[in-house]
Amino acid sequence: MIELAPDHKVGLMLANPVMPAAGCYGLGTEYSRLIEIERLGAIVVGPVTAQARKGAKPPRLLRIPGGVLLHTGLANPGIARVVRRAEGAWRRAPVPVIVHVAGTSPESVTRCGAHVSAIEAVAGIELGLPDDTTSDQLEETVWAASTAAIQPLIVRLPLARAAELCEAAVAAGADALTVAGPPHGAVWYAAGRHFVSGRLYGRLVLPLVLSALMSVRSRVAVPLIGCGGVYDVEDAMAMLDCGASAVQVAAALWRDPSCLARIAHGLAA
Ligand SMILES: Cc1cc2nc3c(=O)[nH]c(=O)nc-3n(C[C@H](O)[C@H](O)[C@H](O)COP(=O)(O)O)c2cc1C
Repeated sequence: MIELAPDHKVGLMLANPVMPAAGCYGLGTEYSRLIEIERLGAIVVGPVTAQARKGAKPPRLLRIPGGVLLHTGLANPGIARVVRRAEGAWRRAPVPVIVHVAGTSPESVTRCGAHVSAIEAVAGIELGLPDDTTSDQLEETVWAASTAAIQPLIVRLPLARAAELCEAAVAAGADALTVAGPPHGAVWYAAGRHFVSGRLYGRLVLPLVLSALMSVRSRVAVPLIGCGGVYDVEDAMAMLDCGASAVQVAAALWRDPSCLARIAHGLAA
């Protein structure tokens, strides 16, 4: 068993270290027939914000050499509707449910945290921090999440600033850290004759995350979740070797829903 929040009064215990990352898994119902959920350590649902968000203007997805650029814009129907739609599925989930709250503002985080706090089926909250978060904003947003919700709080750090921000996140109340949100990039969109900015996905992300994991591991003692560039069991093992207690997988799952259970099985073996 893996304890992701050893200093929290309730804790967040996982039977194995593999879970989907925020965004690709939807609200918890979409993949239920495609994945053997009981073989995972947890599911991460969301992102959610206080108000509904339509998401980014197309094109949202562009192919690049070695991967893709994706710009979702955090599309979601707002926390109240999310809870109405998904609470039943969360209650029936055979593994802990972690709700990913996008850290767009302390007010939004407080509202989402208050909604989620009342739901027994939610075992943890993952707070995603924007890339340009300042130390003051981090403190305010993490504090908002940790006071609004009673569940353990995982803070997902932006990749480029994971080492810089990790100690402040723990000081502000994070029980665990996800390392990290995907790197940002821009791609020339020839058909529209403009650049599209977004997050980069592909196998090249793994070495960047491993390096960030090592830096963060040397600075803080809380449990870490590795996220970014995991496509097979060796990638997940590398993350655990760099000090992560668990791993998240997104883009690989999108292409092959069975990969999560396969990685979980491989790690157990
Ligand atoms: C289809 C898809 C949608 C995603 N949507 C979001 C999102 O809305 N918010 C977010 O913070 N991350 C989102 N992510 C990023 C993942 O949470 C994760 O950080 C990223 O995919 C890195 O892991 P990977 O290399 O295993 O894909 C999304 C990823 C995918 C593949």
